[in-house]
Amino acid sequence: MDHFNYREGVLHAEDVSIPTIAEQVGTPFYVYSTATLTRHFNVFDQALADLPHLICYAVKANGNLAVLRTLARLGAGMDVVSEGEFRRALAAGVPGDKVVFSGVGKTAAEMRFALANGVRQFNVESAEELEALDAVAREMGVRAPIALRVNPDVDARTHAKIATGKAENKFGVPISAARQVYARAAAMEGIEVVGVDVHIGSQLTDLAPFEAAFRKVAELTEALRADGHDIRRLDLGGGLGIPYRQANEAPPLPFDYGALVRRTVGHLGCEIEVEPGRLIAGNAGLLVASVIYRKQGEGREFLILDAAMNDLIRPAMYDAWHDIAPVIEPAPGAERRPVDVVGPVCETGDTFARDRALPFIGPGELVAFRSAGAYGAAMASEYNSRPLVPEVLVDGDQFAVVRRRPTFEEMLARDTIPSWLA
Ligand code: LLP
Repeated sequence: MDHFNYREGVLHAEDVSIPTIAEQVGTPFYVYSTATLTRHFNVFDQALADLPHLICYAVKANGNLAVLRTLARLGAGMDVVSEGEFRRALAAGVPGDKVVFSGVGKTAAEMRFALANGVRQFNVESAEELEALDAVAREMGVRAPIALRVNPDVDARTHAKIATGKAENKFGVPISAARQVYARAAAMEGIEVVGVDVHIGSQLTDLAPFEAAFRKVAELTEALRADGHDIRRLDLGGGLGIPYRQANEAPPLPFDYGALVRRTVGHLGCEIEVEPGRLIAGNAGLLVASVIYRKQGEGREFLILDAAMNDLIRPAMYDAWHDIAPVIEPAPGAERRPVDVVGPVCETGDTFARDRALPFIGPGELVAFRSAGAYGAAMASEYNSRPLVPEVLVDGDQFAVVRRRPTFEEMLARDTIPSWLA
């Protein structure tokens, strides 16, 4: 469900027409819908309504300050994985005590920053990290609240590059070793055990792996309580998938996920934390591009856009599908022909779609990639010296540029030529 629909034949973001934005900011650009962000947050919130809970939005999915601010005003906490993300959460008005800090490689400096800013909890991913955190906290004369991220060895049945809950992945502590690490944690002066954390992967389209993981977490929680630990929070991670093909995909609903949470861990009386990223931001964003050329290749036709893999890397990196919509609605029954939709970057991997059946879209016309609100702008780079594309937030009939397009001068000014080359 999103708020990008055709009105009188023109694609709109809420009440704003896409060509209006394109005229003002140029292409390519990302555009986000406040109504969609809000709706997704509220649906998830309602799905957990009868459990004490905090939705800690995964900043990595889309860390634009305007997006974070939108969610912060709805009461969201944040899940961060770096000092940079922590600073974004704070800048958007999220208090430190609503920020959980995840990630396998937290540095001592990042730990200090988080502690100084009253972090809600560290999701600790190894015994080694626990030692380091204890040392930092003791040096600062504080106790660091922690949940141990356990690796339940569950197959999330998602793309291998985004599965995180199998024993061979770098994430978390094997669940079989967790009690030992908790025992060690309880003996540390700089550590306060508050919960258990799990995250098994992203874009899960089936609830069964969640169920398997949450049952293991419930079992572990009971064992840990019997060992004398005060487990009062369960962080269940993110990962709920979204439909990328509007035509034929129906991933599980947040409501069913909520029922699953209640069924598997509800009886423990813990405060539930969840870390959805994609579910909140994914379908709340479009990447809008212009067609530069229609190129006739040998037996194939290429639609060459002004957006490229550096702007949206998901198709190149995960073979991900994004629906591609012409901004001017095709006439009903318009002929569709298979085209390869590509960008200008000098790699064959710079292909958004192969043999995509699209109506005729000519040079200068606009197309929109749907479901680009999560892991779109957030994963963009300047490869091929293409400046990062701007981001726009729409709310009803108003819109604002929430990250402007850098100038070429700004891009070049970050480099310096050393004196010996002058
Ligand atoms: N919590 C942790 C600890 C995570 O590692 C992640 C995502 C999330 C929460 C949020 O997961 P979500 O609800 O968004 O599925 N770049 C990839 C996705 C990478 C996900 C990494 N971790 C993509 O474009 O598909």
